[in-house]
Parts: sequence; C-alpha cells; structure tokens
Amino acid sequence: MDVIGRCRKLATVSEEAGRLTRPFASAAMARANEVVGSWMEQAGMATRTDAAGNLVGHLPGAELDAGTLLLGSHLDTVRDAGAFDGALGVILAIACVERLRAREITLPFAVDVYGFADEEGLRYGTAYLGSRAVAGTFDAELFALADADGIHLRDALTAFGGDPVAIASAARPDAIGYLEAHMEQGPVLERAGRPVGVVTAIAGQTRAQLTFTGEAGHAGTVPMAARRDAACALAEFVLAVEEAGRARPGLVATVGRLTASPGAPNAVPGQATASLDVRHADDAVRVAAVAALLERASAIGGARDVAVRWEPRMDAPAVAMDPGLVDALAAAAGTAPRLPSGAGHDAVALAAAMPVGMLFVRCAGGASHTPAESVDPPDAGAALDVLFAAVCSLAVR
Ligand code: HGY
Ligand code: MN
Ligand code: MN
Repeated sequence: MDVIGRCRKLATVSEEAGRLTRPFASAAMARANEVVGSWMEQAGMATRTDAAGNLVGHLPGAELDAGTLLLGSHLDTVRDAGAFDGALGVILAIACVERLRAREITLPFAVDVYGFADEEGLRYGTAYLGSRAVAGTFDAELFALADADGIHLRDALTAFGGDPVAIASAARPDAIGYLEAHMEQGPVLERAGRPVGVVTAIAGQTRAQLTFTGEAGHAGTVPMAARRDAACALAEFVLAVEEAGRARPGLVATVGRLTASPGAPNAVPGQATASLDVRHADDAVRVAAVAALLERASAIGGARDVAVRWEPRMDAPAVAMDPGLVDALAAAAGTAPRLPSGAGHDAVALAAAMPVGMLFVRCAGGASHTPAESVDPPDAGAALDVLFAAVCSLAVR
C-alpha cells in the first residue's frame, strides 16, 4: 500500500478550497469516512460509523472471547492542516490489517481500526469528542456547545448521521488496548536520525475560551482616556500568556484564535474573544499556570473596565503510556528512542478505558498543523513494520 500517497490523496478532501480543513461532523468528514471506509473494505474489513461519528473497520479474531485490539488515529484536522496529522495513523493501521490478511495471520483477538471523528477540537473548541465516546467518558453537556455559526454539537452530530441519544453505544468495553502510530510533530527523531520512536507519556492540556466585553465606539471621536477597548484588553492578555509560557520551563501556552467585533476599521472594538491552550508534562505546573492566567485576565479587565468571561473547554491530565504496550512497541522497534509527546492524541481520552500505546514517526523539521507536514515513505514503512510486529506480539503475551 502506498501509505504516503493515500495520505496525500485524503488531504484533498477538505471543507475549504485551496487548503486542508476538515472539522468534526462536516461534509468533508463524511467524504473522508467514505474514502477511508473504502480502503478499509479493500483490506477485508467490515465498516460502520458509530454514534459519535467515528469510522470503524472490523477484522474478526479467531477467538470470540479474546476481545478487540483498537488501532487508528483521527480523520479530522486543524485549519490549513498538513496531510499527515491523524491520517498517517489511520492509514498505517489499515496497512497493518492488510498485511495480516496478506500473510493469512488470524490473531486470537479482533482488530478494529478507528478514524476518530474529532481529535483537534477545531469546530467546538474541545477535543477528543469521538475517542471520549469510545472510552465511555463523553459528557452529555458537550452536546449544548455551539460552533461559530451557532450550530449545536447535538444537531451537528445528528445531521452527520451520528446518534447523540445512543452515544453510550460507542463505548468499547471489549477493547483490550489501543495502539496509535502518529507523526511526531516535533524535531526529536529527525535530530536523532531515527525513523520511529516509542511514546512514553502525553502532556496534560487545558483549553478555555475568553470573552472580553468593553464598549464599542467611533474611532474618530471617543477620546483614548475614555475607551473600554476590548481588543486592547485581549492584546494585553495574549502577551501575558506568552510571558507565562516563557517563565515556566516545559510550559507551552498559546492563543491561537482571536476575534474582535464589530470588526470595522473605524469602530473601537466592544468585544473580543481568545482561545487558550496551556500544556505541561506535570499537571500541577499546568494547573497553577492556568490559575495565574485567570487572575491576570481578571486584573487586565478590571484595570480597563472591560468584563472578562472565562469558559473552560477542556482539562486533560497528562497520560502515561501502558508499560506493556511500550514494551511491545520497544521490542519491535529495537533501539528506537523513547520520548514524551507535547501534542495531544486520542490516546489521552482512551487511556481512561484501556491500555494505550503510541509510536511516533519522523517528520520533516517537526512541522505540523501546517501544509509543510511531510513524512518520508521509508519512515512510514519502518513504522508499519514496527506496528505490525507489535500487534502480532500481543497475540502471544
Ligand atoms: O493539539 C494537539 O496537540 C493535537 O494536534 N490535537
Ligand atoms: Mn493535531
Ligand atoms: Mn493528531
């Protein structure tokens, strides 16, 4: 199978012309599920879409009571994404099943390949919607979230063909574990000159949405001293976020999405919004940094007579990979490096319900969440060899 070619083909399935953007429960996601579903069926799998909108390919095992090993990654993307974040892991998992069939290997356990519906959280600001449903931890309050067009998550999922009422049916109590291959999204493997690495842990992540509300006015007539400019309050907060990240070793903090309204060049912004993303390998450091930023936002608003609303969107603790799956991947990967992940993955959500393990694949310059993402075919081949060997080794553990 041409893993890289399939990633690049899938990258043409987008909600936006000229760049790759594939949000949760979008028409592009439906098309992606069709394309990837056909690849799963070519590999001999039966396919379905679960109540959360996840695409699922099923390969039966030899023993009905041996449970199911889950493989895969996510099919949604960020805005103006690269071709490999998520897609590489789904397509490598299909290639693994294809190799099992080609070698006429029937494992005792079944193998289900997932194309998760929402790992990035682009549309609703909170991540892991599909994998949380599979882990059985989906919070029904999330259904009330509205996207930028005011469409609630419940309605978007229903229109997509999911089933909010039956979301619990997506849970997988039969799962014996989850293995995910994913591009590294960092420079470590490239600097080490190694094609793959075994993930040890995934950093904890906080997401929030802030709204600054001051007073709109005429840009030509409102005196500077009389302004309650929401965009200025937001700008001060953005720099405070950067300062927080620089002040604490190992902390990363980002404001990735900003708006100012009414958005006219000659109107003082009355309202401004900002997303917040804070991460650290140590949950205590992350939680303390978030608390300090909440205080800072309140102080900025107070000094400017601008109201600040802080809406938590996600609090994902740091997750350690399962030692048994780390060993299985390490045994298959030889002297490959072991490394933590600063990026989040569906394995974070699934760890609540099953052992999880991840394999990283070298990527050019560590670039990710941009069209510059690139993975070399030999590295994809090396990852497939390791993933396949690790999956087969679980049959004898
Ligand atoms: O944001 C992340 O860490 C991942 O790419 N969703
Ligand atoms: Mn991503
Ligand atoms: Mn990803």
